[in-house]
Amino acid sequence: MSKEIINVRLSDDGTAVTILDQTLLPNEIKYITLKEREELFEAIYMLRVRGAPAIGIFAAYALCVLAKQAKHESLDVFMEKIKQHSAYLDSSRPTAVNLGTQLKRMMSLAESEAQKSASAPQIVELMKCEAIHIYNEDVEMCKAISRHGMSLIKKGDGIMTQCNAGPIATSKYGTALGPIIMGQEQGLDLKAYICETRPLLQGARLTAFELVQAGVDSTLICDNMASITMSEGKVNAVFAGCDRIAANGDVANKVGTSQLAILAKHYNIPFYIFGPSTTIDKDCPTGADIEIEERNPEEIKEMFYTRPMAPKQVKAYNPAFDVTPNELITAIITETGVHKTFTNL
Ligand code: MRU
Repeated sequence: MSKEIINVRLSDDGTAVTILDQTLLPNEIKYITLKEREELFEAIYMLRVRGAPAIGIFAAYALCVLAKQAKHESLDVFMEKIKQHSAYLDSSRPTAVNLGTQLKRMMSLAESEAQKSASAPQIVELMKCEAIHIYNEDVEMCKAISRHGMSLIKKGDGIMTQCNAGPIATSKYGTALGPIIMGQEQGLDLKAYICETRPLLQGARLTAFELVQAGVDSTLICDNMASITMSEGKVNAVFAGCDRIAANGDVANKVGTSQLAILAKHYNIPFYIFGPSTTIDKDCPTGADIEIEERNPEEIKEMFYTRPMAPKQVKAYNPAFDVTPNELITAIITETGVHKTFTNL
């Protein structure tokens, strides 16, 4: 697997979370340590930590840190405070289900221990163990996903990717990039075609960084070059991650994913979604029920440019995700295997 970068880490004493600040990549590898509720929220909102599994792990760690700060309160006040912190962190981004799922998991542990009259300091320790467990579980899920994904590729294949679903978007190993990195280690000589992923450039800044570091033959394309690249026969499969899988197998992922699925169907190229089962939302019937995050239009008009690249007056629409309908997905790969039907994932 690629060189070890610890993306999200809880300090041994549980008082801080350290993350790789992904907004600075690929130019700077900088770790930042966070303790305050507002800076923990901001790290998710600004995508310093990002990728559905990594956000879930980070939120669980963040809640531990905030719980520790409240541990000398009475049990009632402690529980009220962590409930508020959990709701606050959960409001930072709406689309990736892992954020809410892992916070709910942490809160239900705290609530059941409080009912058994555990003390606040005892609950804090149990929450820390649970959060570390969430991290370790994700490591195992990503390893299994990468192994299953390897069954879909052969030597010399060209794989197109969108956004970043690599090691830094998860605990370790990644999901959609896992098989590509593993394939490289096993001498498969894969070729990655990386869509740059406007407007925040997760493809150019993050996927290219990870795949180049792993020694994969990597080519960056603008998002509007996907069709010509596929038409030239360079792409054997599309590999993408996911932020929420609805019960019917519709999938929300970074905006632009659905257009790759439509193109892949046109060119008869298999389109695969990779994600841990923590990304499945059984309570969400279809893709139409998924809330799509809409971000600041300035990300389109100004970010990464030395001067604004559009007139001030022009409106910009900036949905951060889109939904790929299940009928365009060849298979969904989770830690349990390669699934071609989606109702019982
Ligand atoms: O807005 P981001 O960068 O958090 O979006 C991330 C993605 O869309 C990823 O593909 C997804 O979270 C899967 S990460 C393994």
